[in-house]
Amino acid sequence: MNVIVSLVITFLISQTTSETNPTKKECNFIKSKSRLDFVLCTKLMSLSELSELMQPNWVDVAILNRPSFPFVVDYHDARFLNRVLTLNLSRAGHLKISEHGFKDFHSLKSLDASDTKLSTLNPDWFIPRSPLAFLDFSNNELRSLKMNNFKNLLNLRFLNISSNNLDKMDVHAFAALKKLDTLDLSSNNLREINLGHSSSVKTLFIGNNWLGSNKRFQGDATSRKNIFLQQQS
Ligand SMILES: *[C@@H]1O[C@H](CO)[C@@H](O)[C@H](O)[C@H]1NC(C)=O
Ligand SMILES: *[C@@H]1O[C@H](CO)[C@@H](O)[C@H](O)[C@H]1NC(C)=O
Repeated sequence: MNVIVSLVITFLISQTTSETNPTKKECNFIKSKSRLDFVLCTKLMSLSELSELMQPNWVDVAILNRPSFPFVVDYHDARFLNRVLTLNLSRAGHLKISEHGFKDFHSLKSLDASDTKLSTLNPDWFIPRSPLAFLDFSNNELRSLKMNNFKNLLNLRFLNISSNNLDKMDVHAFAALKKLDTLDLSSNNLREINLGHSSSVKTLFIGNNWLGSNKRFQGDATSRKNIFLQQQS
């Protein structure tokens, strides 16, 4: 499945680089046998530019840029963005997120913002009681998790924050997330991991931190089914 997606992307990269106009912004509907059809947009610099191109039937959208490009999540009008269900920014470049954040995405279920040089998290990027269920912030530069960081993401089931620079984590960081099932905190600089006693997390990845041999992990282990101490291979 991933092979096909990367083939499609490689094809599109080679196409766009051989074009006469290298700044061409465009979105194409990608038909895929192996995954849901999605819309791939190239060379967009901001969410405003996406919102100008958006069509009403586009619900799964991915942005492809050069990795060093900035991509600005700016203030934009809500045209059709409120219908988008999945947004993949993992190849959009360096994210610069305004205070308005992702608030126009009223229906967003899945956000992949991995590999985007994110260094801060603002709880107000999302609408209250956002339907977001899947959030990937892996491979970024987050340093700490605070108490209210996820306060609007009450429907979150999957959260990946692996491979960041986390060295501090408030014990209440995930307390409001009563549906959170899978949490990946692996490959950070955490010396202690405490999810609190009421955590709903059932599958937890904590490998490759600074937990030491006594694995300073606290939480209600009886309700938790899988704790992976090692990094996934
Ligand atoms: C986002 O796109 C990348 C590159 O195509 C892909 O590897 C990744 O699996 C996608 N993320 C999601 C959540 O589908
Ligand atoms: C989290 O993201 C990392 C890096 O993108 C990936 O290797 C890992 O499999 C993800 N974790 C889960 C639980 O999917």
